[in-house]
Amino acid sequence: MTANVQAYRAAILHSLADPAVVGVEQSYEYFEDGVLVIENGQVARVGHAAELLPSLKGIELTEYRDALITPGFIDTHIHYPQTGMIASYGEQLLDWLNTYTFPTERQFADKAHAADVASIFLKELLRNGTTTALVFGSVHKQSVDAFFEAAEALNLRMIAGKVLMDRNAPDYLTDTPESGYAESKELIERWHGKGRLHYAVTPRFAPTSTPEQLTLAGQLFQEYPDLYMHTHLSENRQEIEWVKQLFPERGGYLDVYDHFKLIGARSVFAHGVHLCDAECQRLAETGSAVAFCPTSNLFLGSGLFDLNKLERHGVRVGLGTDVGAGTSFSQLQSLNEAYKVMQLQGKKLDPFKSLYLATLGGANALYLDDKLGNFESGKDADFVVLDYNATPLISYRMQQATSLAEKLFALTMLGDDRAIKETFAAGQSVHRRD
Ligand code: GUN
Ligand code: ZN
Repeated sequence: MTANVQAYRAAILHSLADPAVVGVEQSYEYFEDGVLVIENGQVARVGHAAELLPSLKGIELTEYRDALITPGFIDTHIHYPQTGMIASYGEQLLDWLNTYTFPTERQFADKAHAADVASIFLKELLRNGTTTALVFGSVHKQSVDAFFEAAEALNLRMIAGKVLMDRNAPDYLTDTPESGYAESKELIERWHGKGRLHYAVTPRFAPTSTPEQLTLAGQLFQEYPDLYMHTHLSENRQEIEWVKQLFPERGGYLDVYDHFKLIGARSVFAHGVHLCDAECQRLAETGSAVAFCPTSNLFLGSGLFDLNKLERHGVRVGLGTDVGAGTSFSQLQSLNEAYKVMQLQGKKLDPFKSLYLATLGGANALYLDDKLGNFESGKDADFVVLDYNATPLISYRMQQATSLAEKLFALTMLGDDRAIKETFAAGQSVHRRD
């Protein structure tokens, strides 16, 4: 087979490691005039144009002016069924779930509806430069079939699962321990490891599952290699009190998941806003990850995520939008709000840490850093082209910038879907803005 080779020329930036571990200067690589070479959907090489171009004679070269190529963004927590209820006014978590979320998710019993929303949702992710996401379906198995069918057609690397929920939710939205287990297993057999798709065992959160359901979920999580476990943890103070009442014999919220064998590598907990040191320690030692969801935490009034505390304990942290509680599909907008979350705690978020969180850090949280997150050769060619002239204001601001850090920071503060000129997945263009 002859190799399918394409090359892309622009400024190129990618993360090499966590700035919190290696320091900012060692955490990234930048080519002011760079070339990214893609071969059969994977990264072949990245480097300076002056060095690489002579070896690329005869190869198709696409050149972007005033643009920055970065790895595709990774969203470590999002709900696709909630696309249509994003920006619903005025409640904190538990009321918000009852008022808006459950009635919206009910509609996903209809596979045709689920397919329509899956298509809108994936388009929106790609318009925002997000190429991989860890995704909640609804309780209906057909919601996950619809999602994976749409993701497979675009050859995206995606992780998703059917919600498990057998109490404290409307009857129309509950399963049973046995049906939840059997339907999840059926979906795993059908989708896990197919192409670039992965399955996540998805108990909604501790309050909506009985101990029997959590027992079977923990069992299932151990049954197949490389499965994910995806749930919510310590998001809202009322929720935390409720978990204490429901599980009085457990030593706290995380201990519930620990008891049912739901923590470890590839366990991803959304939020973790109110974790104590012992919980951070346990997350770190088990290799579990937390999804930092700034737009959602601010929107639902959940609280301020303490990134530095999780970092100190060595917990893997990714960035999540948490749409529909999150108010934007854009990881640039999530980083904008993440910066403000840090400011409100008297801390800072360096722009290269932001880049890391949205790319390699997310890949690390999902144990996909052998496949995603930067431009090491052999990784999936999932990348975005960011436009320095996306809006008149961004264009003008970029003209004033004197350093890469300044440009990157301004892009995260001012950028959104308009800044995404083009998105590539496995080397194929999957979104072009104009
Ligand atoms: N906790 C349980 N379910 C949900 C949900 O759908 N969204 C958020 N943000 N938190 C939750
Ligand atoms: Zn969520």
